[in-house]
Amino acid sequence: MPESRRAEILADPGFGRHFTDHMVTIRWSRDTGWRDAAVVPYGPMSFDPATMVLHYGQEIFEGLKAYRQPDGSIASFRPEANAARFRASASRLAMPQLPDELFLASLRELLDVDRDWAPPAGGEESLYLRPFMLATEVGLGVRPAAECLYVLIASPAGPYFTGGIKPVDVWLSTDYTRAALGGTGTAKCGGNYAASLLPQAQGTEHGCAQVLYLDAEERRWIDEMGSNNVFFVFGSGDHIEIVTPVLTGSILAGVTRDSLLVLAKEIGCQVTERRISWEELVERGADGRITEVFGCGTAAVITPIGRVRHANGEVVVGDGEPGPITQRLRTLLTDIQRGAAPDTHSWMRTL
Ligand code: COI
Repeated sequence: MPESRRAEILADPGFGRHFTDHMVTIRWSRDTGWRDAAVVPYGPMSFDPATMVLHYGQEIFEGLKAYRQPDGSIASFRPEANAARFRASASRLAMPQLPDELFLASLRELLDVDRDWAPPAGGEESLYLRPFMLATEVGLGVRPAAECLYVLIASPAGPYFTGGIKPVDVWLSTDYTRAALGGTGTAKCGGNYAASLLPQAQGTEHGCAQVLYLDAEERRWIDEMGSNNVFFVFGSGDHIEIVTPVLTGSILAGVTRDSLLVLAKEIGCQVTERRISWEELVERGADGRITEVFGCGTAAVITPIGRVRHANGEVVVGDGEPGPITQRLRTLLTDIQRGAAPDTHSWMRTL
């Protein structure tokens, strides 16, 4: 792509709208294992109409970001964690596990040729990396595919939620759940996101940016949101407790979630992973004991939540501005990612 057009895109990339010039592909078949790793021009891929992924949705993906550092180099955040989760998702979807070295090498290879697509240092923008794998065997039998394709694409990205770092409203879905125990909730598979689209459309109709789900069994416990995990802050001043739903088996183990648990402890918060019920949210929200709520994920980073709305009312949190803990954690995390603060946890990897 001409440099002038790329500069225009990088000035206002949006989220997931533009893609770099290349992609990485690696094939797998049961007979030969992983082979034919290649960096090829980004472009359409053609598939036989009977390709398995098109029928039974055997597909997984990851999301991670590469950040331009102040010295011009490019680094990604905890890519080994994404590589490990990609293997875990593959295992749940009966797909082959891509060795971590190949996953990490694919990131480096793509960045080697598409380095200029990483937005400048110092801003909110980054290069979003989207590894995914699909079942490419042709046939209509319902069984694990004997052929798969790993693909890595990249997209310059601004904030996932438009409107700046302002609290968003979220919609509590009482009609639908996201995942059940024993289902695919802990896997990052396309099917989970397909199932979230109808509730998400309902949320949008109600002016909400995301849907918050309850557990599938009792419809009582807060689970997570359609595309990110959720945190609750209780108290203020000297005693601050941060609570996030414990990974019960239906919640995606977010890399940002895990990192925030570490950072929150370091700033002296009491950090608790436990089940948190909708009743508790209503009760403690009503008397102001919940001081902040935020969502977190690679795409969403940390997004403050100002209201949880539902069919019969709403829980309002805060005063319409991002809370102090939300802001502090966001700054701590993004400063590490952008090389503006020391990487004391050794989370960053130069690509
Ligand atoms: C991410 O945060 O990387 C995600 O995967 C969310 C995405 C579905 C936009």
